Amino acid sequence: MSPDDLKALVRTVPDFPAQGVQFRDITTLIAHGEGFAAAVEHLAGWAQAAGAEAVAGMEARGFIFGAAVAVRLGVGFVPIRKRGKLPVATIGIDYALEYGSDRLEMDPDAIAPGRNVVVIDDLIATGGTALAAVELLRKAGARVDHALFAIDLHDLGGANRLRAAGVAVEALMD
Ligand code: PRP
Ligand code: HPA
Repeated sequence: MSPDDLKALVRTVPDFPAQGVQFRDITTLIAHGEGFAAAVEHLAGWAQAAGAEAVAGMEARGFIFGAAVAVRLGVGFVPIRKRGKLPVATIGIDYALEYGSDRLEMDPDAIAPGRNVVVIDDLIATGGTALAAVELLRKAGARVDHALFAIDLHDLGGANRLRAAGVAVEALMD
C-alpha cells in the first residue's frame, strides 16, 4: 500500500481531547489488516537500515507499532511506560504534551550499555514524548539516533526538535 493509501486509513476526530484539536486517530489504520501490516513493514525497513538492536515504544500507542516492528526484526522490545506502572525501581522524566503533561518511566536495566535502540511511536506532535524517551534511553546507556513514527504532525515542530537532539526522524505520513 502507498503512503497515500495509509493516510486515507487514519481517521480525523474534531475537538478531541479538547476544543479545536483535530485528533489524528490510528484506530482505523490498525483495524485494517493490510494497512497495519504495510505500516509495520515500512517502519521495520527503516529500523533495520538503522541497525536496530532493540526497539523502544512509548505507552500506549507506541507499543502497538513498536512491538510489531521488534517481532518483525527479531529484536527485543523496551516498554517506556507512564508513571507508576513498572514493578521495579525506575528512572523517569516529566514532559509536556500538546495538551497537558505526563511522566515517562523505564527500568534502567532494560538495555545493555551501548545498544542501538530505535524509538517508535504512532505519532509525533510537539516531540515532548519522544524527546523524553530518547533522554531516558540515553540515561540508561542506550545509543539512540533514530526515531520512527506513523504520523508526523509537521506544523508542531517535534521532528525538528528531535533532529536537534541528534536523532534522525522518519514518518510514514505528515
Ligand atoms: C500521544 C502519541 C504520542 C504523543 C505525541 O500519546 O501517541 O506518544 O502523544 O505528542 P507529543 O509529540 O506532543 O509529545 P498520549 O500521551 O496521548 O498517550 P496514549 O498513547 O497513551 O494515548
Ligand atoms: N492524534 C493522536 N495523538 C496525538 C495527537 C493527535 O492528533 N496530538 C498529540 N497526540
